[in-house]
Amino acid sequence: MAMDDYGTALVTGASAGIGQATVRALCKAGLAVTAVARRAERLEELAEETGATPMVLDLCDTDALYAALGPLEVDVLVANAGLGRGMASFVDADPGDIDLTIDTNVTAFLHTLRAVLPGMRERNRGHVVAIGSVAGLYPLQSPIYGGSKGAVRLASQNLRLDLAGTGIRVTEICPGRVVTEFVAGAAGEEAARRTYGSFDELQPEDVAEAILYAVGAPWRVNVSTIEIVPTEQAFGGIKFTAVER
Ligand SMILES: NC(=O)c1ccc[n+]([C@@H]2O[C@H](COP(=O)([O-])OP(=O)(O)OC[C@H]3O[C@@H](n4cnc5c(N)ncnc54)[C@H](OP(=O)(O)O)[C@@H]3O)[C@@H](O)[C@H]2O)c1
Repeated sequence: MAMDDYGTALVTGASAGIGQATVRALCKAGLAVTAVARRAERLEELAEETGATPMVLDLCDTDALYAALGPLEVDVLVANAGLGRGMASFVDADPGDIDLTIDTNVTAFLHTLRAVLPGMRERNRGHVVAIGSVAGLYPLQSPIYGGSKGAVRLASQNLRLDLAGTGIRVTEICPGRVVTEFVAGAAGEEAARRTYGSFDELQPEDVAEAILYAVGAPWRVNVSTIEIVPTEQAFGGIKFTAVER
């Protein structure tokens, strides 16, 4: 198992949802995990529960990101921190939604990779797990969020080529709807209450399990992409709407 080759992991966005479940799973698998997010109290609780090392960091602070992540020896990077804003309507979105989404999902994502990868390359050992989305694979009527996750998709694919010959594996995980704090952050608590529970959605643990599969696969196997969606949800399609003129 490749898991035996890995000793350390770094999970961003570890204070909630998919990141939190992934910290639990990787700690259980025996890795020494650093858990990154902004909410210190959440991280402290998770650290107490799992033995992970908490790291309070705003990934949009680029200088702080390089100072904190650059010196770490990371075998498995789960670049998970992300959010959705301005998802209801692009035309009505606050212009600030564009900046926050791109700053977090694209710019901070790339800087996280850039901070951690030189160490992996030096050691000829590493696994990057990028958390994309079905929104990066199919049009879901979310130009800002979909655009940001489309960037994660092509960044992951380009990275796999860029790192060929280094022994570093790159996996992109593309989940469908997962019950997390994502919708509350995107559209408020009321929207989250209306969104979740109408069908059997994915749980964060389901995604963590997929990550564990990719990381634990034999070294010769690079699980390049996992698309994981609820059984009761399908993606893609076509829309015809007559326009009054
Ligand atoms: N939920 C879904 O249906 C779904 C589907 C597909 C893909 N995804 C993707 O899955 C990933 C995790 O989302 P989730 O659903 O688990 O959402 P979540 O429950 O809202 O968790 C998001 C995490 O990102 C962290 N974060 C956000 N901005 C940050 C920043 N500037 N610096 C450090 N940490 C930051 C948050 O921590 P703090 O606020 O404490 O900093 C939190 O831990 C995201 O990339 C999301 O796009 C989610």
